[in-house]
Amino acid sequence: MVDYPPMALATPVIPAHLVDSYGRQMGDLRISITDRCNFRCVYCMPEEGLRWLKNDKVLTVDEIVRVAGLFVKMGIRGIRLTGGEPTVRAGLPDLIRRLNPLLDEGLQSLSLTTNGFRLKELAGPLADAGLTRINVSLDSLVRDKFHRITRRDCLHQVLEGLEELERHPTIRPIKVNAVAMRGFTEDEVIPFAELARRKQYVVRFIEFMPLDADGNWQRDQVLAGREIYEMIHAWKPLAPVSVDPSSTSRVYRFADGIGEIGFINPVSEPFCSTCDRLRITADGQIRTCLFSIDEWDLRGPMRDGAEDWQLAEIIQRAVGHKELKHHINEGPAFHRASRSMSQIGG
Ligand code: 5AD
Ligand code: SF4
Repeated sequence: MVDYPPMALATPVIPAHLVDSYGRQMGDLRISITDRCNFRCVYCMPEEGLRWLKNDKVLTVDEIVRVAGLFVKMGIRGIRLTGGEPTVRAGLPDLIRRLNPLLDEGLQSLSLTTNGFRLKELAGPLADAGLTRINVSLDSLVRDKFHRITRRDCLHQVLEGLEELERHPTIRPIKVNAVAMRGFTEDEVIPFAELARRKQYVVRFIEFMPLDADGNWQRDQVLAGREIYEMIHAWKPLAPVSVDPSSTSRVYRFADGIGEIGFINPVSEPFCSTCDRLRITADGQIRTCLFSIDEWDLRGPMRDGAEDWQLAEIIQRAVGHKELKHHINEGPAFHRASRSMSQIGG
């Protein structure tokens, strides 16, 4: 008989990369910090009646910081806080301040997606806390239409919030995201293009996806990015700008160098094959796709005392099941997601 030396208890190693079963390496994590919102955008929320998560179901700041740190150890390079509307959660600057040190541990960007309503008061505190990038949703530049699409008469506040951001150069770029809808957005395309030239905002058009809580999405309401591109290019020529391959957007700059426009075309030109994104819902569930049916719970294990390596195992299992692609264009094969956008986090 051979005498083996006593086996050391294997210390579980947390892998430094997260790669899914199709070879895609995960780089981007979107953490929803609340499912609540002060707007009611028609492409996202119902007018009323959405049930909020109970507070004790929502991850605490400590839990968010812990999970974020673990994901950064596992190779995540970008973290974006989303909602609902993240600025309705009290203490957002404190949370950013707690996450900021991750920028010394491999994280490259710490960003926020917001509807902009509270930015006038928050831009300064967010900059001081160490936010590095921001996306502001803005679907119309016409007060009335803005009111109709968000169900709130708040265009003025959002524009003021954007102007306040301009005073804080550590938060860059400022991206302005407009969900494009047929019959709604066409006559705003050029005004938005003008905004991109007048201001330092990168204006991006996002195709309407079937993630609205009302379930009203129809294919013919999608205004394809290509069509918008043609409208702008005919007005003033655009030239392509090269972007990271995992980027969701196609980016162009006006040929005279003034102003940048992006197109996020998940419906007409899916980018699933290079998707490196993971999401955590406000109640601590991992979602590997906007259109996921399944979720992976981190909150329960965390509250039951799981160690980091045990959470890492759950994360790896989730990533191993990341969907190949969405099926929006496959007729009956398409099932709506198990939650709507405000419950997932853009
Ligand atoms: N389709 C496309 N984008 C959406 N968003 C919300 N709902 C939808 C949808 N159905 C985007 C908005 C918002 C972000 C939070 O998510 O652009 O800026
Ligand atoms: Fe709120 Fe954003 Fe959804 Fe609009 S898109 S209702 S701002 S979460």
